[in-house]
Amino acid sequence: MNAMSKSVASRTFDIEAIRADFPILAEKIRGKDLVFLDSGASAQKPVVVMEAMLHAMQHQYANVHRGLHWMSERTTEAYEAARDAAARLMNASDRREIVITHSSTEAFNLVAHSFGRGVLKPGQAVVVSQMEHHANIVPWQMLRDAHGIELRVAPITDAGELDMDGLETLLADGKVGLVSITHMSNVLGTYTPVERIVKLAHAYGAKVMLDGSQAIVHRRVDVQALDVDFYAWTGHKLYGPTGIGILYTKRELQEAMPPFMGGGDMISSVSFEHSSWAEAPHKFEAGTPPILEGIGLRAAIEYVEAIGYDAIAAHESQLTEHALARLSDIEGLTIVGRAQDRGGVISFTMDGAHAHDVATLLDRQGIAVRAGFHCAEPLIRRLGLDSTSRASFGVYTTMGEIDVLADTLERVRGFFG
Ligand code: ALA
Repeated sequence: MNAMSKSVASRTFDIEAIRADFPILAEKIRGKDLVFLDSGASAQKPVVVMEAMLHAMQHQYANVHRGLHWMSERTTEAYEAARDAAARLMNASDRREIVITHSSTEAFNLVAHSFGRGVLKPGQAVVVSQMEHHANIVPWQMLRDAHGIELRVAPITDAGELDMDGLETLLADGKVGLVSITHMSNVLGTYTPVERIVKLAHAYGAKVMLDGSQAIVHRRVDVQALDVDFYAWTGHKLYGPTGIGILYTKRELQEAMPPFMGGGDMISSVSFEHSSWAEAPHKFEAGTPPILEGIGLRAAIEYVEAIGYDAIAAHESQLTEHALARLSDIEGLTIVGRAQDRGGVISFTMDGAHAHDVATLLDRQGIAVRAGFHCAEPLIRRLGLDSTSRASFGVYTTMGEIDVLADTLERVRGFFG
């Protein structure tokens, strides 16, 4: 069976064809249609991703970069095609700028460890924002404690937008070596003004890392046009498998960055006295890589490319507009975050009801949302809350599902009265 034999949603946006590519969407939850509004936590997978991974396991699988035999050479080609696909998706100028990790969390830890300890000097600072995911906070705290780096936090406005004046104030003393900020908040849906952030940070001599795990699902990312230094994202939110992440690293920065983890595949030679490193990106990729996950991620990237970012972004925009209008009409429901530029991640609270209870009642009707801190506890605290419920959309989300959510929330509201 050819890995790409099944239907791939064509270049025109046909929501029914797209939904047919995701078999799990036909599941019933306690007899109700599944309404999956938790794609921000992890997206569902199209058949082409499953087929690509199954095909590899059935016909073409061995370890990569090591074997001289047919199976290893073919598997290496199939796995390395993921690097090419990621480079193309992000418009990287050189495939060697794509480091394949096991997650976006690993990508942040890699940069904190390698660029942080190898390039930044004690006394320099790293800036994050108040709306970061834990993966873009904790590695910098560890760097701070181990290497004498100051951690600064850029404020956000009450509407949930990055306070650019506040960011500039933090940059003003010229001590900041790196600004690491989300491209799209996983709680508020806010898109940050990444072009302005990169220009501003560079003007003060700081490099920039962007957390793109949410944004790259919905918007075209062009790392050359952005001139960003590091851009991290995870495979499983882009309809690919878990266990794989992508870290774009600007080529000119790689030489000065020491390895992150040591082991096989990242070396050029090893003795008991001394080891030398392979060239980037392999220098940053110790051990057997996520081979099957790479093969699956390539299929996911090709799936997204076949639909096209113009269509994906237009769909997200329609869904978001409709959801904001419907949810705003529900008495006692407050949408958290009102950024001008925002996408298909909507957090909300309901008067008199805890977010966990709202999510549990929605689940009774087959509707999957996330509730709690969303791995962004400092943001939830900054907003003066202890939790939110969050609906997040994927390429397969329909306007009808938004209506089911809104109608059910009306009833949940009635229940809490
Ligand atoms: N970061 C994921 C989320 O936002 C897990 O839910």
